[in-house]
Amino acid sequence: MKVLVIGGGGREHTLIWKIAQSPKVDEIYCAPGNAGISQLAECIGIESANTPALISFAREKKIDLTLVGPEAPLAAGIVDEFEKKGLRIFGPSKAAAEIESSKVFAKKLMQKYGIPTGDGEVFEEPQPAINYIRDKGAPIVVKADGLAAGKGVIVCQTVQEAEEAVALIMVQRKFGEAGRRVIVEECLQGEEASIIAFTDGKTVLPMVSSQDHKRAYDQDKGPNTGGMGAYAPTPAVNSQTLEKVLKEVLIPAVKGMAEEGRIYKGVLYAGIMLTSEGPKALEFNCRFGDPENQVIMPLLETDLVEIMSAIIEERLAEMEIHWNERSAVCVVLASGGYPGKYEKGKEIRGLDEVSPMKDVIVFHAGTKYLAHAGLTPTPPFFTNGGRVLGVTALGDSLLAAIKRAYSAVDKINFEGMHYRKDIGARALPYSFNK
Ligand code: AMP
Ligand code: GLY
Repeated sequence: MKVLVIGGGGREHTLIWKIAQSPKVDEIYCAPGNAGISQLAECIGIESANTPALISFAREKKIDLTLVGPEAPLAAGIVDEFEKKGLRIFGPSKAAAEIESSKVFAKKLMQKYGIPTGDGEVFEEPQPAINYIRDKGAPIVVKADGLAAGKGVIVCQTVQEAEEAVALIMVQRKFGEAGRRVIVEECLQGEEASIIAFTDGKTVLPMVSSQDHKRAYDQDKGPNTGGMGAYAPTPAVNSQTLEKVLKEVLIPAVKGMAEEGRIYKGVLYAGIMLTSEGPKALEFNCRFGDPENQVIMPLLETDLVEIMSAIIEERLAEMEIHWNERSAVCVVLASGGYPGKYEKGKEIRGLDEVSPMKDVIVFHAGTKYLAHAGLTPTPPFFTNGGRVLGVTALGDSLLAAIKRAYSAVDKINFEGMHYRKDIGARALPYSFNK
């Protein structure tokens, strides 16, 4: 079987690493991919937004299954376009992907189908939003409706900050059209978790729970990032909590989508706040998480290609999905300056020393590869993005996985490299220093 993966980050490297283990798969292609991916798949120079070129490629190469990593092509309707041409593709349709591409749509879905979430209202004009903020007081959360590369949510500690957030989103249009409408929402308190599930629109099977680390620096300080690390499973989500999220959030969302005539097939990601009143949904994403996928896929024992086929053919109810009971931790190594300005093209050293380590996998995000350079056993890799590598380790306990991940991180370096030293630490029963 020939598989095409769309995307080029750590999430896609992880998917390809998993797919490459399937006995059903003979060839893997990735558009556009990265240097790490190029060791497992043939990378093709087509951007993920170029649907017509991707369709031509899939036809020409007789691709049996296409898998979409990022949200943007899903929101643009790549699944609908492939299906129109009779090509098999894994992921939600454009109408179903709106659960991520419009936070207003998602909020209304949650309210209509009784999914627990923070109280909030939708505004199409700045002044009523500001009046609402003054009435409710801070802390309060302001969210741009549309896709904003993970930056469209502003958690405000004061009324003034919230008013500025409304101005930034609706008046200055910092995120363009995504800021035509906003949601102003109650600020929820608690531990966050990502509960991500496979669904064929009828059956919902959750993956192991995980937790992302969004802030740039230790102890959740500094600006928000795409994610500086993750671990799975998260002890904060015991089996009762997982069951509750399934019954109160994921299943009602999938059923609600079906009732709205938007059958949801693919991966549904619920961002959850574990509040003192129980789990509440913060958001939905229409895809695998990044970096959550870097800790979830290594724990998945079942063949991912079989799961994806079962979803496309709407027979997920027949599948049993098995998970390894160990823990996984991923530490993201970022370029100096990220999430602000950073330089690219720094040589990455130490990967040869890490590759023989047992239970350690290095997933590449922003890397490139200069094939001509040098006579080293693996050709040198260079940085090519903000988040450069995700160093994942498995362990029999969370602590063992943390220690193993950091012992691998210690062997890797590039100029300006920075990373958090407390990934997973808050899930340990005592404070942990590297
Ligand atoms: P989202 O893109 O909606 O997940 O929001 C990004 C981040 O903003 C979440 O991971 C939370 O940390 C935070 N957030 C979103 N909504 C709320 C809320 N109602 N209360 C507190 N924090 C929130
Ligand atoms: N880790 C957050 C996300 O994938 O959206």
